[in-house]
Amino acid sequence: MDYLKIKGGTKLSGSIQISGAKNSALPVIAATILSDKPVKLINLPNVVDIRTLLKLLDILGGTVEHNDTVANIDNGTMNSTKAVYEIVSQMRASILVLGPLLARFGECEVSLPGGCAIGQRPIDLHLTALEAMGAKIEIKGGYVRAEAPNGLQGAKIVFDKITVGGTENIVMAAALAHGTTTIINAAKEPEIVQLCEMIVDAGVNIKGIGTSEIIIEGTRGKPLTFKDVEIIPDRIEAGTYLCAAAITASTITLEKVNATHIDASIDKLEAMGCTFDIEDEKITIHGNSRLKPVSLITTEYPGFPTDMQAQFMAVATMAIGESVIEERLFENRFMHVSELNRLGADIWLKGSIAAVNPVVELNGADVMATDLRASSALVLAGLVANGTTNVHRIYHLDRGYDNLEGKLASLGADISRLSE
Ligand code: EPZ
Repeated sequence: MDYLKIKGGTKLSGSIQISGAKNSALPVIAATILSDKPVKLINLPNVVDIRTLLKLLDILGGTVEHNDTVANIDNGTMNSTKAVYEIVSQMRASILVLGPLLARFGECEVSLPGGCAIGQRPIDLHLTALEAMGAKIEIKGGYVRAEAPNGLQGAKIVFDKITVGGTENIVMAAALAHGTTTIINAAKEPEIVQLCEMIVDAGVNIKGIGTSEIIIEGTRGKPLTFKDVEIIPDRIEAGTYLCAAAITASTITLEKVNATHIDASIDKLEAMGCTFDIEDEKITIHGNSRLKPVSLITTEYPGFPTDMQAQFMAVATMAIGESVIEERLFENRFMHVSELNRLGADIWLKGSIAAVNPVVELNGADVMATDLRASSALVLAGLVANGTTNVHRIYHLDRGYDNLEGKLASLGADISRLSE
C-alpha cells in the first residue's frame, strides 16, 4: 500500500492547474446511459472514482475508451442493467446509474451502497422520488430492484432534505420520463448545473437550473444525443490548494478555476486574513502568518461545503485564537480530528461541533487517512508540521485528488509517495 511522506516547513510558491471536478464528472458519466449514441467527455480528473464508474459502464456492456482526461463512451452497446456489488461497494456514487438505467431500459438492479466512514448516507430520498414517478421498487438480496415497464411518469417531487445525488438521479430519470417533473427543494451545486446543461444541450427542456425548483420535460422514452461535455473545474480541489497556501502562509496561483464556485471558501479565508487576486480563470492567494480564527457551519451550496470542513480544520490549528466548526451534513465527518490531534492539534468535539484551539506548532507523526477529504486535511497539516509526517491509507486520496503529491511538489512542498 502507498503512503505519503511529507517533510513540513517548506513555503509554497508558483502555480498549478485545477483538474476537472470529480463530483461533476461522476453524474455526467452516469448520464451518458441516457444515450445510445457516442459521447465524448473531456477534462475528466485522473482519479480512481472516475475509472471505477467507467468500469461499471463497461460491465453493463457500454463501450468505453478512456485516456486520463478524455473518455469516448458509446452506450448503444449496453446489454445489462445490473450494477453489481463489486463496483457499487467500492464507490457510493455508483447509485447515480439507478435513475438513468431505469429511465432508459425500464428496469434495473443496483447494489445498495451501504454506509461509509462519514455517515450512514441512506438513499431513501432517491427511492421515494422514483416511486412517485411510477417505479416499482423492492430491496432484495442487497440490491435495489426497480421496474417501470411502461416508462417513468413525470411527477412533483418534494425532497424533505436537500440531496445532491438524489437531485441528480431524478433529473436524469425525468429527462426520459413521460410528462413534466418538478423537483422542489432541489440541490443547487455547480455539479447539478453542469448535469442539467448537458441534458439541455441534448434538446431537453429544463427550467430553474441552479435554483431550488427544477422543471424537466421528459422525452417520453426517447434516448438523448449528447454534445461533447467539458467537465467544470473541481471547486473542492481548488479549495484544498487555497488551504495549502493558507496553512503555510504562502502565495500560490490556481489556474483553470471558477472563483464563483468557491466563494464560500474564499470568504472564510479572507476573514482569516488571507488576500486574493482574482482574474478570469485564475486565483492568486496570499497567505498570512497570523491567521485569525474562523467560525463556520457546513451547509448546502452556495453555503460552506462539508467537503472543505476537514481542510479548514487543519488550517484553523494555525490560527491565533479558538475556531468553531459545525458539521451539519454528515453525522460522522470528524474522523480527522483524532489524527490531527496526533500531530499536536488541540481539537475538542462535542456532538457536531469542533472547537479548534490554537497551538504553537504541529509535530510530524504517522497518521491514517479515513476518507477522501480527511486525508487531504492530514496532508495539509503535514505541510506545516515539524519533521516528517507519513500519511497512510492514501487510497482514499487517490479516489478524488488528481496527482495531489505531484501538484504540491511542483509548488515546492517536500512530499513523496512511497510503498509500505
Ligand atoms: C455528494 O454526496 C457528494 N458526492 C459528496 O462529496 C458531498 O459531501 C455531498 O454531496 C454533500 O455536498 C458526490 O457528488 C459524488 P447528499 P451525496 O445526498 O449526493 C442525506 C466528496 O468528498 N440523505 O447531498 O451522497 C445524507 O445522508 C464527497 O467528494 C438522506 O438522508 O450527498 C446527508 O446527510 C463525499 N437520504 C445529506 O442528505 C437520501 O436519500 C446530504 O447528502 C440522500 C441523502
